[in-house]
Amino acid sequence: MTTRLKPDRKAAALFAKIAEVAAEAGYEIYPVGGYVRDLMLGQPGNDIDFVVVGDAPALAKKLKSPLKAHALVTYSRFGTSLLQTRDFKLEFATARKESYSSDSRKPEVESADLRNDLSRRDFTINAMAMSIGTKDWGKVIDPFKGVKDLTRKILRTPLEPEQTFSDDPLRMMRAVRFAARFQFRIQKSCFEAIRKNVERLAIVSQERITEEFNKIMLSKKPSVGLKLLEDSGLMKRFLPEFSATKGVEQRKEYHHKDVFFHTLQVIDQLSEHTDKLPLRLAALFHDIAKPRTKRFDENSGWTFHGHEVVGERMTGAIMRRMKYGNEDIAYVKKLVRLHLRPMALVNEEVTDSALRRLLFLSGEDFDDLMLLCRADITSKNPNKVRRHLKNYEIVIEKARQVEERDRMRAFKSPVDGREIMELFGLAPGPKVGQIKKFIEEAILEGDIPNEHEAAMKLLLDNKNRFF
Ligand code: CTP
Repeated sequence: MTTRLKPDRKAAALFAKIAEVAAEAGYEIYPVGGYVRDLMLGQPGNDIDFVVVGDAPALAKKLKSPLKAHALVTYSRFGTSLLQTRDFKLEFATARKESYSSDSRKPEVESADLRNDLSRRDFTINAMAMSIGTKDWGKVIDPFKGVKDLTRKILRTPLEPEQTFSDDPLRMMRAVRFAARFQFRIQKSCFEAIRKNVERLAIVSQERITEEFNKIMLSKKPSVGLKLLEDSGLMKRFLPEFSATKGVEQRKEYHHKDVFFHTLQVIDQLSEHTDKLPLRLAALFHDIAKPRTKRFDENSGWTFHGHEVVGERMTGAIMRRMKYGNEDIAYVKKLVRLHLRPMALVNEEVTDSALRRLLFLSGEDFDDLMLLCRADITSKNPNKVRRHLKNYEIVIEKARQVEERDRMRAFKSPVDGREIMELFGLAPGPKVGQIKKFIEEAILEGDIPNEHEAAMKLLLDNKNRFF
C-alpha cells in the first residue's frame, strides 16, 4: 500500500520550490528522518532534513536566494549545508554510506543512493523519506517498513542492531529516548544488542550523552526512559550512583518502595507540574546519597542521616562530571540540600524565624523547593498524602505572610560591606564579613526588621562587640 503524506501549505510551497531547483540542477532530493516521522504522526516540526543524491552544498547554494534564506552554513568535510529561512531550519546532506575498510578503521565516505543512506540511519521510523517530485508527490519511501513499525509502536533498527549501534553507540540512548517520548517498545533483539554493547558508550562524548539524557528527563513521564536506561545497563555506564539506589529499602512505615522507585515516582509527579530541567534533576538527585548514608538503628530501623548534605556533595561531583553548567549545578545542589527543611517545619511548632531562615536560604527558588517537596510525597495511603499536602499548604501560607512583612526572598543585607568599612574605618578583611553576618542573624531571628536604618542602629549600639 502506498502511503501519501500531506504537508501543510507552507511546507508544500517550500518543497515545490526545492524540487524545481533540484530538478534544474539534475539532483534528486528528499525530506527524510524526524520530519517525515512526525508528519506521519500529525505533528510536523520546522526542522527539516533533506537527503540529496548529488552535491548537497552546491544545491543549498542554489536554493539560498529562491528560498529567501538569510543564512547558509556549509560543512564541506561532511558534505552538508544548513539554510535558515523565515519559517524553517533546513539541513541538506549528500546521500552517503560509511564503509569501513578492515585494515584502517577510518571511514571512507562514498556517495550512495537513497536506500543506502536510509539503511545507515538509527531506527526504521527515522529511515523513511518522502518524494517531492511532481510525479510522486507525497509518496513515502519506506524500504525498512517504518510505517508499519510506527503503527505497531516498535523501535527497530534498519540493519542488524549490532551494526547500527556500532556505527554510533549514542543510538542506544536514542532508542530509550524515542521509546520514552512515543511510548514505543524496543524490539527484543534490539534491546538485547543494547545490553550487550553498553560498554561502547565509553567512546561517545559526555556532552552528547548528557544531551540525550536531558531529552529523556524532559519527556512527559521520565520514569519510562529511566527504567529502560536501568534495565538495559546504560544507566550504570554514566550514572552508576543512581543505579545504586535500586534495592535500597526504606523504613516501611514511611515508604513502600526502594529509593530507586520512590525517586521515579517523585520525578513523574513533579513533571506533571514543571518542564524545568534543573528542577527535574533536583528530583533525580534528592535521595542520591541514601545508599551511602544508610544505617540501622535499633529503635527507628533504617536511617539516612545527613543524606541531604552528602547528597549535595555527590550532586555537585556528578553534575560536573556530566558537564552541566555552573548555574544549574548550584541550583540543584541547593534544592538537594534543602529538600528536608520544609518537612521539619511541618513537624515542629513553626516559628517566624525558622520560616525566615528557609526563605533566606532558598531565596527566589522557594516555590521550586515546595514543588519538589510536594512531589516527594509518595505514600500509598491517600489520607496521609492529603495530610502532608495540607501541612505544606500551611507552611507556604505562613511563609507568604512572613515574606510579605520581611521581603526575605530577595534578601540583600540592608547595610553593605562598603558602608561597614566607612562606619568603622576598616580595611577589607574577615571582620567586615563577621559584622555583616551579625546583621543577617539579627534579621533572621526577628530582632530587627530588614531595613537600613534599623541595621545601622544595631551596629552602632553593638560597636563594642566587634573590637
Ligand atoms: N540520525 C541517526 N543517528 C543518529 C542521529 C540521527 O541515524 N545518531 C538520523 C535519523 O534518521 C534522524 C535524523 O538523523 O531522524 C535526524 O536526527 P535528529 O535531528 O537528531 O533526530 P530527529 O529524528 O529529527 O528527532 P528530533 O525530533 O529529536 O529532532
